[in-house]
Amino acid sequence: YIIFAFVVLLAYFIGNISPSIMLAKRHGIDIKKAGSGNAGTTNALRVLGKKAGVLTLVVDILKGVVSVLLGGLICGHGCAMLCVMAVMFGHIWPIVYRFKGGKGVATAFGALLGLNPLLGLSALGVVIVGVLVSQRMSVGSMLGALSFPVLCIFLEKDFIYLGIVLALIILIKHRANIKRLFKGEEPKLSIFDKEKK
Ligand code: G3P
Repeated sequence: YIIFAFVVLLAYFIGNISPSIMLAKRHGIDIKKAGSGNAGTTNALRVLGKKAGVLTLVVDILKGVVSVLLGGLICGHGCAMLCVMAVMFGHIWPIVYRFKGGKGVATAFGALLGLNPLLGLSALGVVIVGVLVSQRMSVGSMLGALSFPVLCIFLEKDFIYLGIVLALIILIKHRANIKRLFKGEEPKLSIFDKEKK
């Protein structure tokens, strides 16, 4: 039990590692106060540029993959599922950064990839289609999140409840984006925004 608790706690702290906050700091920027104020890939891309965006994306995905694989290898399937929640909580509510982190999309994708690669890649497909059609990352992210439980029905029935919880957390974290979308004020992803190019 001690090892089980240790692995879950470790996943939480892996989630606390925030590439976007660290990269912004190197530029003397507080990412929580710049752009959308979110510590994630989209805002890193918006505020810091392509390189930082890609690096944030890769590290945030890896956090999910590593946590789930560690949990699964050391303590088995049940632990891997708990590690998904732990790394998500660590990313979204990091104690290291006074509980202000990201929205959990890249990390959730990484965690799903670690649990079941086909599930993760299918969700990525939904995100990509959503982003291409709407040109807005938040729309792709939310559609991807909504697709988790649906994809679980077809690919991995054991994960349905996990998929529902992940989708709810991600949707709740996108409250501000939803409001902006209704007002027509949600910015396009910077690579689609000609004015910003
Ligand atoms: O994953 C976060 C993305 O969906 C939206 O990010 O910075 O535009 O709120 P942002």
